[in-house]
Amino acid sequence: MQLKLRGIRKQFGENEVLKGIDLTVNGGEVVALLGENGAGKSTLTRVISGAYQANGGTVEIDGSLVAFRKPQDAMKAGIQVIYQEFRHNLFPQLTVAENLYAGDRSGRHGRLWSNRVRMQKDADELLKSIGMAMSPSALVRDLSVPQQQMLAIAKAIGEDASMVIFDEPTAALDQAEVEALFAQVRRLRDEGVAIIYISHRLTEVFDLVDRLVVLRDVGDNPGREQRAESCGGDGRPGRGELLPEGATRHRPHGAAAEGTE
Ligand SMILES: Nc1ncnc2c1ncn2[C@@H]1O[C@H](COP(=O)(O)OP(=O)(O)O)[C@@H](O)[C@H]1O
Ligand SMILES: [Mg+2]
Repeated sequence: MQLKLRGIRKQFGENEVLKGIDLTVNGGEVVALLGENGAGKSTLTRVISGAYQANGGTVEIDGSLVAFRKPQDAMKAGIQVIYQEFRHNLFPQLTVAENLYAGDRSGRHGRLWSNRVRMQKDADELLKSIGMAMSPSALVRDLSVPQQQMLAIAKAIGEDASMVIFDEPTAALDQAEVEALFAQVRRLRDEGVAIIYISHRLTEVFDLVDRLVVLRDVGDNPGREQRAESCGGDGRPGRGELLPEGATRHRPHGAAAEGTE
């Protein structure tokens, strides 16, 4: 799959968050989307998934224009997003196995739903195959936060997607879990999946990604430009433009909330 964004704009009231983003991601590559907190990374994922509607710009998949009205449309097109608020991906009152097969868009798992024993066994195999120790019959609301994060990831990557977007997936994870996650990201890439990996920490993604794209403001005046800047595959940011974590260049946050979309 090739995803191509051109001139994507998104504002919330007066707050212009995305000011003309151009970004192309191809199958078989991991693109890191970097930027300070508030730069608009999560907003961009929601524009791609159709959770938010852009105020301008186009999205193309394999050369055809698409306009997703809701995340289910993006899922049908093979795009899975693991949201930063990963609980959005889960049903807390259902079991691990039920969560893995909920939202079964292709009907692939229809037979599993009618055979609980098979479903548990299948879920167990999926979890083991990606190195996760977790009981398929546990209720999601009883899982720890890192377990919930890993389950959201397992669910997304179990969907045979052509593109997976990870939005700051490691915040709740320990080192071993991060390693397990990175192994999965690499496996997906090797299978030809297009991956956007969002982080605000350059050091975290250095060894993982093929290309870095930085979402940042250019200049400090109102009406300033914003660019997604691509850096080479050698993992070096170049020109010293990446801000260290906790850097103080902040955007105004005073805009009215757009509310639920
Ligand atoms: N639903 C919303 N309503 C109003 N403002 C929003 C909404 N979602 C995001 N924003 C604003 O958009 C800006 C970018 O946020 P976000 O995309 O979460 O940044 P990042 O993920 O890079 O930290 C922030 O100023 C945030 O307050
Ligand atoms: Mg975010």
